[in-house]
Amino acid sequence: MVELKGLPGFRDFYPEELAARSFLLGVWKEVARRYGFEEYDGPPLEPLELYTRKSGDEIVQQLYEFEDKGGRRVALRPEMTPTLARMVGARAPALRKPVRWFSTPQLFRYERKQRGRLREHFQLNLDILGEVDVLADAELLAAALDIMRATGLDATQVRARVSDRRVLAAIFRHVGVAEETLEPVYGVVDKLEREPRERLEAQLKNLGLEPQTIAGIFEATQLRGIEELEARFGGVPSVSEGIAELSKYLEHLEDLGVREFVDIDLSVVRGLAYYTGIVFELWDAQRKLRAICGGGRYDELLQLIAGVDMPALGFGMGDVVLSELLRDHGLLPKPGRSLDCFVAWLGADGQRHALRATQALRSAGLSVIFEFRDRRLANQLKSADQLGARRAVILGPKEVEEKQARVRDMSTGAERVVRFDELAATLAAELGDG
Ligand code: HAM
Repeated sequence: MVELKGLPGFRDFYPEELAARSFLLGVWKEVARRYGFEEYDGPPLEPLELYTRKSGDEIVQQLYEFEDKGGRRVALRPEMTPTLARMVGARAPALRKPVRWFSTPQLFRYERKQRGRLREHFQLNLDILGEVDVLADAELLAAALDIMRATGLDATQVRARVSDRRVLAAIFRHVGVAEETLEPVYGVVDKLEREPRERLEAQLKNLGLEPQTIAGIFEATQLRGIEELEARFGGVPSVSEGIAELSKYLEHLEDLGVREFVDIDLSVVRGLAYYTGIVFELWDAQRKLRAICGGGRYDELLQLIAGVDMPALGFGMGDVVLSELLRDHGLLPKPGRSLDCFVAWLGADGQRHALRATQALRSAGLSVIFEFRDRRLANQLKSADQLGARRAVILGPKEVEEKQARVRDMSTGAERVVRFDELAATLAAELGDG
């Protein structure tokens, strides 16, 4: 018989891996709650057109798409932002602005296999809709960075690389890029770290750009920090407006307590086509992995998808790269189940009392496993130990006779007896979380 395997790029979550995933999801939800975001979700299958309108070529090529039995062109969601735009757009007048929503969908992209990229992943999406002020941009990045802190990562381990598409556009126009060529230029610049420079130069040349324009593009993407940007392009009025906005943004980040993580880095443009303003990515400081998180402002997407004029910004943070980074730094919690009690028994009467005791202990909120088979007590206690139980409750003929259970503290081996009718309350008080 041929052994059946799962699909490449899709994960099986054995308990240990699921524990890591739940830990991350827990951190995401906790920080989202602290920032006052409400949770939402949408369907995992969407009309294909939702993604072909504005997500950009790269993601469209990676779609899991097919025709359903009703003849509709559909796709598994590769990202959440178009769904969010549709949902918020549909109820825009009724929603209190700014909308602050988050979601943790599983997403699907047919990617080429590489480290940190799979064909499914979970992604926290945190978005603010209906706010133009740059303060919202700062709030968004602060939330992403507070998630880093909540996992135990600090500014020596994670960096936020920030750029602004309006600044890039102003510079690119200044060096000779025509309006309609801006978007393909972003597409090329987005590949700076993944492809050799000669290949990118050839692609820019194919867009009809002159050598000095191409040189200007590369020069711009090498700028780091506000001072460098100011010194080189501060004289261009549309650029200086952008610089003023970025300065304000950095000041807000300072006040929000996360400035130490942030670098201005104009090589970041983001791969998705809908971004319109400040964009950012979080990376491990050594840049050994891929981006942990990416996002920015997309003020025109709601117009395109829902016909609603509403500014918006947000980010997506995947579980794959972040888990790898946390594992590298020893920041994932130790796996292992937590079990309050193991109920051991001997003989038919012992078994009946074991089931009743188990039920009472579980009703009192404790986690309990009882023995299935009438085995030697020593073997049962070995199971209790292997399961990491904090207490063993022992019900043999003598205990049944005297209507009291023997309770063994598994860490010290000390034993005592507790009356049946007091067992649940006594152990719940001892082991319960409060
Ligand atoms: P994105 O940059 O395509 O943005 O994805 C965001 C993050 O999701 C990445 O930084 C990475 O951590 C993770 N990710 C993406 N693709 C994969 C993959 N194939 N395997 C593992 N992890 C992956 C977006 O999706 C935007 N919709 C984010 C956004 C929300 N922008 C505004 N709001």
